[in-house]
Amino acid sequence: MYRTHTCGELRLADAGKEVTLAGWVQRTRDKGSLVWIDLRDRYGITQLFLDGSSDPKLIEQARTFGREFVIQAKGTVIERESKNPNMPTGEIELKVSEFKLLNSSKTPPFTIEDVSDGGDDLRMKYRYLDIRRNPVRQNLELRHRMAMLVRNYLSNLNFLEIETPMLIKSTPEGARDFVVPSRMNPGEFYALPQSPQQYKQLLMVAGMDRYFQIVRCFRDEDLRADRQPEFTQIDCEMSFVEQEDVLNTFEGLAKHLFKEMKGLAFGQFPRMTWHDAMKYYGSDKPDIRFGMKFVELNDVAKGKGFGLFDNADLVVGICAEGCSEYTRKQLDALTEFVKRPQVGAGGMVYIKYNTDGTFKSSVDKFYTPEDLKVIADKFGAKPGDLMLILCGDAMKTRVQLNALRLEMGNQLGLRKPDEYAPLWVIDFPLLEWDEETQRYYAMHHPFTAPKPEDEALLDDPTKWGDIRANAYDIVMNGVEVGGGSIRIHDRTLQNKMFHTHAGLAFGFDRLCSLFGGADSIRDFIAFPKNNAGRDVMSGSPAPIAQEQLDELQIALNLK
Ligand code: AMO
Repeated sequence: MYRTHTCGELRLADAGKEVTLAGWVQRTRDKGSLVWIDLRDRYGITQLFLDGSSDPKLIEQARTFGREFVIQAKGTVIERESKNPNMPTGEIELKVSEFKLLNSSKTPPFTIEDVSDGGDDLRMKYRYLDIRRNPVRQNLELRHRMAMLVRNYLSNLNFLEIETPMLIKSTPEGARDFVVPSRMNPGEFYALPQSPQQYKQLLMVAGMDRYFQIVRCFRDEDLRADRQPEFTQIDCEMSFVEQEDVLNTFEGLAKHLFKEMKGLAFGQFPRMTWHDAMKYYGSDKPDIRFGMKFVELNDVAKGKGFGLFDNADLVVGICAEGCSEYTRKQLDALTEFVKRPQVGAGGMVYIKYNTDGTFKSSVDKFYTPEDLKVIADKFGAKPGDLMLILCGDAMKTRVQLNALRLEMGNQLGLRKPDEYAPLWVIDFPLLEWDEETQRYYAMHHPFTAPKPEDEALLDDPTKWGDIRANAYDIVMNGVEVGGGSIRIHDRTLQNKMFHTHAGLAFGFDRLCSLFGGADSIRDFIAFPKNNAGRDVMSGSPAPIAQEQLDELQIALNLK
């Protein structure tokens, strides 16, 4: 037998057994006639042991094993003299009678420890070594457990997992397609799916009633910590349902995951309209782990001779509790923060409500203490609080204030990774205006249905921006983890369809990173791409051979 046990398995009850283990050498300690080797595999570490009674040749052999050598060790399980209570196998060790070297190793480019000395790029390049480290391996284990829970939960609700093609005709989701040339059809291309949207709708037409798939999707878009060019969705579609059915079904799935993974129980998830999310948080994915809701100040801040406010479309702010002692330097840093091009505000006004009840603000010239008290009351502020105010075009200012709110949340430690605040954002607009092309686009995707009561507005192009959709997102801790809608169909398709159906897709990678308490989904993908869309380990993307291009009848025209 190659191995009788794993390296995480043996206990005191196994003492006396003859066993064989295989794994990687974590480290070796050599004290003359006493040699210890920590042998590691996915399941744990077991200490191997040699002493004066061991064959000297065996000790010689052990001394040749460097870090990450792959070995097989046979021997007897014995009780340890000095036990290690921090290790599950810490009460025993393996007195080795025979070694077999399976593979030697170069010195690894970084230490394979929980906290490694390797930088990000280096660890990405040698991802297969990085995965040997506990934190990375544990992320993949978490991902597996989540996938199993999802499959079982949905299967128990009668959802069928059905695979849909990867080489397809473009399906619109708002990103660019990755395309694949067809050798047999020169000049023609497949697209890789941005989602299985059309196929899952057709599966409803086909009468499958409830479908799901843990499925890879591909989107050629700008990458960020929560975006990969290929990522995984828990993709679902249901027949004969209303929005309420969909929300309940997938809220049930989310609660099941929270319970099984975290031991957390939730009541009904709160719901917020898109309109309120924008008005009170400046974001369609508010992080409601903390308050600091926006307070609009047009009625109390205008008309006091402060031109910037007087001329603004919207004056709006947040109140940071207990922050009136912020220093000049801290306030300057916040002003710099909102003025960064990524945020884009012109500046920031602050009002300190000092603990002695007095005010100190950056606009004292224009506002009397009485004026400032009126503003403070509007915020519901108390002595000791700090108010931060932005102004300008309404939507732009809200988005800027969202950045400031999240920054304050970070600074004040209010965004705790082990706290979870799920939220449904509902009633998204159907259409979204695009400045660049000067036209409306579907905000979710073009299969999304308007709210029945807003359908009439479709006839009046000046009202298109006001049409609400039966579209919803599930948001956790400020991350959009899923989204979906009730569908409509174009006329030809409509003829084939008798019933409404609806669905939703969770971003599985995002869900995993959230449950794992990390910001980057990369950590939960076995072989991710970097921010330039490159796999630095395999070196892709890469040029292909001229013969391949010839065969595909593709001539490059690089600029
Ligand atoms: P949507 O485009 O909202 O909806 O995608 C669903 C969820 O997928 C995740 N997601 C991503 N995760 C990682 N990297 C990316 N590049 C990426 N893009 C999206 C998000 C998002 O909420 N077909 C519809 C669903 C439906 O209507 O049923 C769809 O794809 O968490």
